[in-house]
Amino acid sequence: MMTVAREFFRQPESERVKHYSADTKKTTRLSTSFNVGSEKFSNWRDFLRLHCLPIEDFISEWPSSPVSFREVTAEYATSVRALVLVLLEAISESLGLAKDSVSNTLGKHGQHMALNYYPPCPQPDLTFGLPGHKDPNLITVLLQDEVSGLQVFKDGKWIAVHPVPNTFIVNMGDQMQVISNDKYKSVLHRAVVNSDKERISIPTFYCPSLDAVVGPQQELINEEEESPAVYRSFIYAEYYEKFWDRALATESCIDLFKASKT
Ligand code: OGA
Ligand code: NI
Repeated sequence: MMTVAREFFRQPESERVKHYSADTKKTTRLSTSFNVGSEKFSNWRDFLRLHCLPIEDFISEWPSSPVSFREVTAEYATSVRALVLVLLEAISESLGLAKDSVSNTLGKHGQHMALNYYPPCPQPDLTFGLPGHKDPNLITVLLQDEVSGLQVFKDGKWIAVHPVPNTFIVNMGDQMQVISNDKYKSVLHRAVVNSDKERISIPTFYCPSLDAVVGPQQELINEEEESPAVYRSFIYAEYYEKFWDRALATESCIDLFKASKT
């Protein structure tokens, strides 16, 4: 997967640009920074975003160059999905819920990937690859090359998550925080750039389908005791739109979905 991603970004601009779009609703697109339509400052990143569930609905939109792109990406997406489904069962059990309960709240399920390309940056202290943010989806499985750049915010400071060969980084996203009613917290993270090495990272964003109704799991709520619902229920499309409308911000949009706001 890393090899085809590298090959994709090494192609001439004339080939890459065929996929360019600033329309955040497009299901396959190459873009730059985060949301060039809504942000004041640009980030030092190009990215190719792909929807990949169900694969057959999207594969014909994916780049056909490099030649192995579709086949490799489809196999990768299928394998990562299998891993995510196992993780969701374990997470459900860790919350004291039936194995299939988190998976059952996701409607038809959704899966997106980003191929992030961070070129060497002549003045890395003036920008980010991606500024601090929380992922809006449920759970993110990140594959990264051997160049450091990812940082997570923990105990009041930014901590580098250096790559370990043949490992994934698994991050919780906003929907896990909602579904678990704050038992799992969406992680604040960012990517920094450096002046001498390009970096590639490939997150898989696993999410509810756009029509899924998401809210805290019923079994985790007890209004009489000390565990009232922290969030209201909403349709995932509403959340996802809010996320892309705003420039990427440290304050996640989760606060807009608090139960007290209804
Ligand atoms: C992202 C992200 C981190 C990285 O794409 O949402 O947080 O290391 N990427 O590139
Ligand atoms: Ni992220």
